[in-house]
Amino acid sequence: MQITHKIAEQIRIRMGQRRPKTAIILGSGLGSLADTIEDTVIINYSDINGFPQSTVQGHNGRLIIGRLADTEVLCMQGRFHIYEGHQPQVINSIIKAFQLLGIKNLIVTNAAGSLRKSIAPGELMLITDHINLSGTNPLIGPNDDRFGPRFPSMADAYTFEYQKKILSIAKALKIKLKQGVYLWTLGPNFETKAEIKMFQRLGADAVGMSTVPEVICAVHSGMKVLGISVITNYGTGMQKNAPSHEETLAEGQKAAQNLSRLLTAFMKDIDNG
Ligand code: HPA
Repeated sequence: MQITHKIAEQIRIRMGQRRPKTAIILGSGLGSLADTIEDTVIINYSDINGFPQSTVQGHNGRLIIGRLADTEVLCMQGRFHIYEGHQPQVINSIIKAFQLLGIKNLIVTNAAGSLRKSIAPGELMLITDHINLSGTNPLIGPNDDRFGPRFPSMADAYTFEYQKKILSIAKALKIKLKQGVYLWTLGPNFETKAEIKMFQRLGADAVGMSTVPEVICAVHSGMKVLGISVITNYGTGMQKNAPSHEETLAEGQKAAQNLSRLLTAFMKDIDNG
């Protein structure tokens, strides 16, 4: 866990007096929320020794520390995917560094494909639970008990209290917020039609190539978690045209505005104790 301490120390030095309790991870094309953060310290991933570089278009690759809705946040603009060739444990090092910095809440966002006709592209889906179908896990390796238990429970991975809170905010702001189970597949290819049918039968409502590893690490660290997917397309075979990365980015941008409004309101309410 040497690398974890090294990452935390570099961020701590740059952060000055700021003590954010909440981290936000922004998914593909959802970086615009970061523009509304005030009084910022910005650290490029390339300037953090031990941080890999994010290689995906639409992921900027920087940490933004500042105030969102008068609450201090640490925001990852750009995330790491296992399909980029990163070891899953890299994600654990980063989340554990956040834990060392005093982060207690993790908000994760992503772009995802819908597995249900009732959840349309351009809509937002609150993640109520997940299925890890990737065949890997960011906690593989020796466990450091100071950070979390060897066999962490995932029974309440997406903090119920936060689910209730965001649903009531969505209602008040008249923003449609669907709910469902997110399935993590490794990628980088989009699914086959047969895979989409299988995922539907497994009880998943959306599919994507991220988020679950960060959530597993955050739950292991004792953090409270809120997850929201921006639905960018229907799964392969559910619509005429196969999904593309361009479509993913375009639909993401449309819904990103609603997501920003939701999260800004949520930040005013979050437990910062
Ligand atoms: N499949 C997997 N990941 C995705 C999709 C999809 O259809 N859309 C956005 N991310």
